[in-house]
Amino acid sequence: MDLYTVIGNPVEHSRSPWMQARFAELAGQHIKYDRTLAPLDGFGQTLTALAAAGLKGANVTVPFKEEAFALADGLTARARQAGAVNTLIRRADGTWLGDNTDGVGLVADLLRLGADPKGKRVLVLGAGGASRGILGPLLERQPARLILANRTFDKARRLAEQFPIQASSYAGLAGQHFDLVINATSSSLHDEVPAVPADAMMGASLAYDLVYRKGGTAFEHWARAQGAKASADGLGMLVAQGAESFYQWRGVRPDWQQVLAEMKESL
Ligand code: ATR
Repeated sequence: MDLYTVIGNPVEHSRSPWMQARFAELAGQHIKYDRTLAPLDGFGQTLTALAAAGLKGANVTVPFKEEAFALADGLTARARQAGAVNTLIRRADGTWLGDNTDGVGLVADLLRLGADPKGKRVLVLGAGGASRGILGPLLERQPARLILANRTFDKARRLAEQFPIQASSYAGLAGQHFDLVINATSSSLHDEVPAVPADAMMGASLAYDLVYRKGGTAFEHWARAQGAKASADGLGMLVAQGAESFYQWRGVRPDWQQVLAEMKESL
């Protein structure tokens, strides 16, 4: 049976083994998908050992996405744009192709929610790795404009040098309105909310948080209180990025919306 795994540290909390096993069941594919705790200074060694054991592919999670990017023998265009690899694909010659499915996962979930960025005014909050991973696929949908705002303006400005987007400080958003607001900061992990002027949320069709939490994230609650019409957390993106990894390994698209429904129930 073909062997896959998710590599991270910590990794016990990862839902990928359950999710990938369900994708395989629904798609009638026979795979074995594990979870691998790599030492913080031992990602490369861990990958080498797994490769020797016949590993066909891996998901890479915190904190190894940049290291996987550096180690991969080849990179897809979207991994290069993201500067990080969340999916490793074993090629026929045994080398590793690095891919990044986070951004396409987000776009797939936005489409599921009826929030296609095409022709829309889009605001992305945050300028860390999460933002870098989603900008390329968001821009491919051709939004009318894309503004990237960050608490530390300089980081937004630097990211805006690599993508055709406009950088802003949080204060600079006053008086501006958006159709879609995406929170790619880690603020919700600490139950905090970015100090963004309320105008930016007012009337938005959707406020989307990359973080997920049962009962909704701090950002979701706050955005709706400021006048966003709807909100969603990142659970759908998590499932959709996993489904894209599965597709890259197996060439079959699993029924990820079914798996998302099951995951919501089990949470
Ligand atoms: P990564 O490891 O993904 O690159 P990071 O550099 O820690 O992550 O960045 C996380 C993002 O969340 C940053 O944009 C950070 O803003 P700063 O660049 O100003 O630090 C943002 N962030 C985290 N907590 C936040 C909060 N409470 N309010 C606003 N932004 C926050």
